[in-house]
Amino acid sequence: MADIITIANEKGGVGKTTTAVNLAAGLSLYLADQSTKSNRVLLVDMDPQGHALLATAYGEHDAPADQSLSALLVESPPPSIQRLLRISIHHPNLYVIPSNRAAMVDAARVLPTLMANESRLSQVLRSIKNDFAFIIIDTPPTTGDLLVNALVAANHIIIPVEPSYLGVSGLRELQNTIEQVKIHFNPEIHILGYLPTICEEQRIEVREILEQLEKRYPHQLLGPIHKASDLAYAHSSHMDIFTYKPPRQRLPGQLASSSRATKEYGDLVEAVFKRTSSK
Ligand SMILES: Nc1ncnc2c1ncn2[C@@H]1O[C@H](COP(=O)(O)OP(=O)(O)OP(=O)(O)O)[C@@H](O)[C@H]1O
Ligand SMILES: [Mg+2]
Repeated sequence: MADIITIANEKGGVGKTTTAVNLAAGLSLYLADQSTKSNRVLLVDMDPQGHALLATAYGEHDAPADQSLSALLVESPPPSIQRLLRISIHHPNLYVIPSNRAAMVDAARVLPTLMANESRLSQVLRSIKNDFAFIIIDTPPTTGDLLVNALVAANHIIIPVEPSYLGVSGLRELQNTIEQVKIHFNPEIHILGYLPTICEEQRIEVREILEQLEKRYPHQLLGPIHKASDLAYAHSSHMDIFTYKPPRQRLPGQLASSSRATKEYGDLVEAVFKRTSSK
């Protein structure tokens, strides 16, 4: 059964989508040589901006509304999930459930009026859980039903953190939301790790915050992702970092290329393997 990992932080622009896309791509690369169907990875795009689709299916921003995640969340009965799956043009074992901006905004508005509104994503993923080794869920920078659905559906959460005082103090709200979801819906859920992102190592504030995070979350702090123009270039070229700067080898611990970003997201892939059941 798939390990389901939600990438969450209500703060905007902290690297959620970058992390979701690159983690999903890195896991796909790692698993590509395995012949079983459990080498598949699914990326679920809950971010209305639809960037996950852009990075995996070249040139496409938006899926048609009736073939996007929002239809699965609000229609009764929901459409066939198999029909919605897109295959990445970069990785044959990476699939995407795409977003549609307008329909996703509508879905966020309509969801609170529907029955079982918190567990709709969990319900729709149930039928395909066994077909994937990992399901990665990208979330929007908002609180509300979309985020709650992504938390109710997950086993693990990765929290990208912007290393600033504001970024760290803002974590409390998300931690409270996770605690509420744990109590009311999903006792299994746990924080796999805090991932410092867009780190500018020459700034003293960043170093101080990394030390503070290390003290506060000694077992949950993941290796930092530094600010790297390669990640921004990969993003604007509609690629993940492993496609943009391919690693020299695909062996565990060696997803490295001339780009530091490939190595750092490669390390995240490895940490995720170690901390989940899909080894
Ligand atoms: N490590 C990094 N180095 C340089 N640029 C980065 C890095 N990570 C992300 N970016 C860039 O920062 C911007 C915001 O990143 P991203 O879209 O992943 O954040 P987000 O948390 O998903 O945002 P939103 O909350 O709006 O969905 C993007 O332009 C992305 O290319
Ligand atoms: Mg995003």
